[in-house]
Amino acid sequence: MTSPVRVGVIGLGAIGQSLLKAFTAEPEVQVTAVCDVDASLAERTARPLAASAWTDYRRMLDAVDLDLVYVAVPPRHHHAIALDVITAGKHILCEKPLALTLAEAQDMQRAAQAAGVVHALNLPLHADPGIETFRRLVGDGSLGVLRRAELTLVFPQWPRGWQQNPWIGGREQGGPIREVGPHLLHVILTTLGPVKRVWTHAEYPVDDLAACEIAALGTLELVDGPLIVVSCLTNVPRPEQVSLTVYGSRGTAGLVNWASPVAASGQAPLEGVPVEGARVPSGARLVRALVSRVRGGPGDLVDFTMGVRIQAVLDAWERSSSTGTWVDVAQA
Ligand SMILES: NC(=O)c1ccc[n+]([C@@H]2O[C@H](COP(=O)([O-])OP(=O)(O)OC[C@H]3O[C@@H](n4cnc5c(N)ncnc54)[C@H](O)[C@@H]3O)[C@@H](O)[C@H]2O)c1
Repeated sequence: MTSPVRVGVIGLGAIGQSLLKAFTAEPEVQVTAVCDVDASLAERTARPLAASAWTDYRRMLDAVDLDLVYVAVPPRHHHAIALDVITAGKHILCEKPLALTLAEAQDMQRAAQAAGVVHALNLPLHADPGIETFRRLVGDGSLGVLRRAELTLVFPQWPRGWQQNPWIGGREQGGPIREVGPHLLHVILTTLGPVKRVWTHAEYPVDDLAACEIAALGTLELVDGPLIVVSCLTNVPRPEQVSLTVYGSRGTAGLVNWASPVAASGQAPLEGVPVEGARVPSGARLVRALVSRVRGGPGDLVDFTMGVRIQAVLDAWERSSSTGTWVDVAQA
């Protein structure tokens, strides 16, 4: 019998707890150790799992035999913690965005590749059958010449109700573009191709210089593809909207509500498109792929190379919002 993959989790907040459920539901995984700077949270989380509880991840890495470490701390800490995990020779799953800056992300990618560990980013839309269906609709030629795409992000409140924490409303680490953008940038990069340059205008609250954007407008120019118009708006009395629409000369395809594909031929109204393939919860899909890859088998993961490509677009976006000019995206 193969022994279970021993997993350690660093960061036990909103997403750490959520993915912990997927890890504990997988019989091939044993969550052996959990770590959070909040000692009582670490203890409370560890007890029902019969795992050890830690407040200092370095001590956990030294003391516990782990195969894989999941890093689910705020973005500012990804770089330092990931490098320590990789140096300890552990396979790593890191939360998005990969890092705070492009230089940090590149550093992490280089370290993971040099160490030969499995490296993955948690992007739940990856391998989602709704996204795969959308990708097929855009790629099969039925839309004709692709003329324009629109990415719309509307949040009735930011921070969202389920993600109240000290950093998500801050300019240094938080904001809807950095927090939600990676999911959709991943879909864009894998469906429409690389982004060449970015222009954006962000709006910040006038009375709080440390706060994240409350709205943003932008354009992403692709290396080879349609211009993408981005509109992001928070704190308006509308339901949450995360949608992507691709307009072609003969038809239109899109995603609504994150991952539900829609399409129209000619001038017909947009209609839902049946999703091809069974919907497996994203956490279970990710954990199964991780287990297989850690054991040397196949497994479809988003790796740090894609994390760097996403970070390069975020980096250009940040710089454009400061300068008000077009900024070239560093190509990996
Ligand atoms: N993939 C997704 O769908 C998804 C969804 C939400 C958040 N995220 C990402 O996950 C990360 C965490 O987000 P969150 O909403 O769970 O944040 P959170 O603030 O709710 O949780 C972070 C936890 O990390 C702990 N922590 C901070 N520094 C630490 C350290 N040095 N050592 C140990 N623990 C430490 C905090 O005490 C906290 O409990 C962020 O990068 C965020 O962007 C990803």
